[in-house]
Amino acid sequence: MKDYSQYFKGPNLQEAKKRSHQQVDHLDDVFEIPADMVNVGRGKKYYIHTYGCQANERDSETLAGILEMLGYDQSDDIKEADVILLNTCAIRENAEEKVFGKVGYVKNLKKNNPDLIFGLCGCMAQEEVVIQRILEKHPHIDLIFGTHNIHRLPQLLKEAMYSKEMVVEVWSKEGDVIENTPVTRANHHKAWVNIMYGCNKFCTYCIVPYTRGKERSRLMSDIVKEVEDLKEQGYQEITLLGQNVNSYGKDLDDQSSFALLLETVAKTGISRIRFTTSHPWDFSKDMIEVIAKYDNIMPAIHLPVQSGNSNVLKLMGRRYTREQYLDLFHTIKEIIPDCTITTDIIVGFPNETEEQFEDTLSLYRECEYDLAYTFIYSPREGTPAAKMKDNVPFEEKQQRLERLNEIVREKALKQNQRFYNQVVDVLVDGVSKKDENMLTGYTAHQKLINFKGRKEDIGQIVKVKVTEAKTWALKGEQIV
Ligand code: SAH
Ligand code: SF4
Ligand code: F3S
Repeated sequence: MKDYSQYFKGPNLQEAKKRSHQQVDHLDDVFEIPADMVNVGRGKKYYIHTYGCQANERDSETLAGILEMLGYDQSDDIKEADVILLNTCAIRENAEEKVFGKVGYVKNLKKNNPDLIFGLCGCMAQEEVVIQRILEKHPHIDLIFGTHNIHRLPQLLKEAMYSKEMVVEVWSKEGDVIENTPVTRANHHKAWVNIMYGCNKFCTYCIVPYTRGKERSRLMSDIVKEVEDLKEQGYQEITLLGQNVNSYGKDLDDQSSFALLLETVAKTGISRIRFTTSHPWDFSKDMIEVIAKYDNIMPAIHLPVQSGNSNVLKLMGRRYTREQYLDLFHTIKEIIPDCTITTDIIVGFPNETEEQFEDTLSLYRECEYDLAYTFIYSPREGTPAAKMKDNVPFEEKQQRLERLNEIVREKALKQNQRFYNQVVDVLVDGVSKKDENMLTGYTAHQKLINFKGRKEDIGQIVKVKVTEAKTWALKGEQIV
């Protein structure tokens, strides 16, 4: 078997921390298509399956843009594709198992179509254990590339077409910020806009700082130009993306900060601005004030707390205490009174006691979040938490999750009820998948709403009267 070790260095805390001192360049001429790859995809189709977070969804739009530049057409049917890419997520074990399920399925497709090119990319590709498992058990994969190698897809695809061996290119040292890759956006009225890549927080349970590398901010001028172009193309909403947007600009030499970026983006006049995710640790008062000041910055903040107990937070490496989090939470609610706040919570962190878990419940009752994404802790190889001995049985963790989710449901309903009988602004996404007589969209406060309305307004912001508040969604009627 070919020796792949020269291409690959898996997640390693020491290495990852070292990387933080290396310089990052902002480049706009790195992406290129080899002459013999132009039109290689003409008459052929591609299929991309995206797992994980918005960062991956945005990356898939770049992959789609590149493949379309090569002449491929997008297909919704995996069975008719000539190129299949799985853009994977490594955040929890169950995310990875889903991907391996799909890998097995594609094996059968390859039997019918030997020319099919099957690639795996995204965060799992950055993990040494995953590469080893693939080399041993899934030799039908033709191509593996990491999160820093996306712009190299034309070259990698070419290699995969002509090579009999599996092509693997995963850089552990993160790349520079590359600005000239193409994009085919999945949505025509809402767009993702990357503002930074990577993460330097190193929460002890989390794989992201290894799979995505260190924090690298895009230049403010590039971001603002992208937003202006989107506005000109008729986009109504943009979401600024980063694993921790508050850190935006800290790695740049100029005065850029997230507060300044938000304000500058708000001044472009695009209708709706959202951002995700904010780490509670460096959420500045300036940021809260900018959000409050501009009507086109939506009053909805995702503020992951992870745990309501200060000792657990310390072990998680979150850099704030329960009290500091609550202070920030209440300051936000004071300055932006009707702001929607959502969160992420992990239950069953190693050795979490019943009392510590109850602190999470009591914090949840105090904050009365609009919504929460709740998870059972999943050990990720190479992270510090994975080395901790754990005395909490899995069944106990499952019960904790269920107890927490009960409160999540109760508060979600309560928070949706505050909009009952109100008239709200809704960006219309399309026809509801469940009922073709209903439209669906999101309010400014990021509430999902299904409503009777005019199909010709899809992609527009319209007024809707809320007629019913349910746990996971509102119902309403458009006012025309
Ligand atoms: N950058 C974001 C989080 C991205 S991951 C932030 O810090 O807010 C999304 C969520 O997945 C995290 O907030 C956390 O709740 C959860 N998560 C991350 N690693 C996990 C693990 N090992 N086990 C269980 N949940 C995890
Ligand atoms: Fe992971 Fe923490 Fe970074 Fe979020 S801030 S991506 S949880 S290390
Ligand atoms: Fe998953 Fe990678 Fe996002 S691990 S959550 S796809 S950054």
